Amino acid sequence: MARRSSLLLAAAAAALLAVAAAVPPTCERIECPAYEVVDSANGFEIRRYTDAMWVSTSPIEDISFVAATRAGFLQLFNYIQGKNAYNETIEMTAPVLTLVLPSDGPFCASSFVVSFYVPAKNQADPPPAEGLRVHRWAGARYAAVRRFGGFVSDADVGEQAARLDASLQGTKWAAAVNEGRTAGKATSYTVAQYNSPFEFSGRVNEIWMLFDGAKEGSAIM
Ligand SMILES: *[C@@H]1O[C@H](CO)[C@@H](O)[C@H](O)[C@H]1NC(C)=O
Repeated sequence: MARRSSLLLAAAAAALLAVAAAVPPTCERIECPAYEVVDSANGFEIRRYTDAMWVSTSPIEDISFVAATRAGFLQLFNYIQGKNAYNETIEMTAPVLTLVLPSDGPFCASSFVVSFYVPAKNQADPPPAEGLRVHRWAGARYAAVRRFGGFVSDADVGEQAARLDASLQGTKWAAAVNEGRTAGKATSYTVAQYNSPFEFSGRVNEIWMLFDGAKEGSAIM
């Protein structure tokens, strides 16, 4: 009897894990920032990241998300290949983030900041590099997340961000998320990509809308 109920408990725990902890498969192979799922509902998940450290490019002005992300990723790829003050090579991590600050008009360039997650091993003394900024999310950072597949296109990102926004309306998270998005510039959002360009199937991407649990700190990245 005791054995049977513990089996049932184990099965229930496994079922819960399958729902709540479906981390992107890439994170079973390479290091990703740890997070905790705080809430999940139809169309979104709320995560809490703690003390994650990033290396970020300067803002890149472009009309294309794909072109800006490629340019930013190249700088970060060179950084982990040893183009940094310590000539140190760094392990690849995931995801690569692109912060999108959409333009005000149809013919204006948007602004993009591309970021790489610094592996735990390097966080005590991350190498500086010209043109890149190393920084840590102080304390807890929350993200409202929507996942989607395939290769990310310029047309996708705005559409997926709008869907995430719609799924949050009327929930207890809407106000905090909105405040986070407008802290820097109106309607910013972040695209997280987990796969290299050479992986053709099972690709995982996410839209993140970052916000603070507490109100202090208005920087988005
Ligand atoms: C990094 O490499 C360059 C070129 O090979 C060299 O001049 C420099 O001294 C190296 N720096 C360190 C910290 O090893």
